[in-house]
Amino acid sequence: MAGFDDVATDVSGGPVRHVPVLLSEVLEALDPNESKLIFDGTFGAGGYSRAIMEKGAKVVATDQDPEVISNSDEIKAEFADQLSLHHAKFSQILDIVEEGSLDGFVLDIGVSSMQIDQAERGFSFMQDGPLDMRMSQDGVSAADVVNTLKSNELARIFGFYGEEKSWPHRACD
Ligand SMILES: C[S@@+](CC[C@H](N)C(=O)[O-])C[C@H]1O[C@@H](n2cnc3c(N)ncnc32)[C@H](O)[C@@H]1O
Repeated sequence: MAGFDDVATDVSGGPVRHVPVLLSEVLEALDPNESKLIFDGTFGAGGYSRAIMEKGAKVVATDQDPEVISNSDEIKAEFADQLSLHHAKFSQILDIVEEGSLDGFVLDIGVSSMQIDQAERGFSFMQDGPLDMRMSQDGVSAADVVNTLKSNELARIFGFYGEEKSWPHRACD
C-alpha cells in the first residue's frame, strides 16, 4: 500500500494514493466489458473501479468514508457516464441498486493507505494520533469504546473480533 507522498507510482509514472493489490485477479474474475454493471462496495481511491471502467463497464460504488467521496471529483468527472458513487455502507446496496441488476461485485475490505497515513484518523501504528478509528467519521470512536465499556465487554470484543484462541475460556472480570 502507498501513501499520498511516498514512492508508489501508477503505470504512467504518476503518484498514486493507494495501490490495489489484487487488480489482475479482480479483472480476471469480473471480466468487465461495455455490457456489464459492477458494484464496488469499497471504493477507496477508486483503483478497482477505474480499471473496471477502463474496460468499458459501468460501476456503482459505495464508501462509508466521507473523505473518499469528497476526494473523488476527478474520477467522477473522468467517468461521468460510467460511475455512480455513493456515500454509504455496502450493506445498503439494495437502497442503491435493484436486486438482480448487477453482473458482479468487488469488496476490498480493510483500511486504505489514505486512512492509515493520516495520524489524526487514529489507524496508524507509526504515528501518534487520537484513538479515533472511525472510517465513517461518525458514531462512537475507539477512545469512547475503551474508556466507557466494562472490562468483560472489552474482553468479549477483543476475544471475538480478534479471534483470540483462548477466549472465552480465560477468566476476566
Ligand atoms: C482497502 S480500501 C479500498 C481500496 C480500493 N479498492 C482502491 O482500489 O482504491 C477499503 C475502503 O473500504 C471502505 N469501507 C470499509 N468498510 C466499508 C463498508 N462497510 N461500507 C463501505 N465502505 C467501507 C473504507 O472506508 C476504505 O475506503
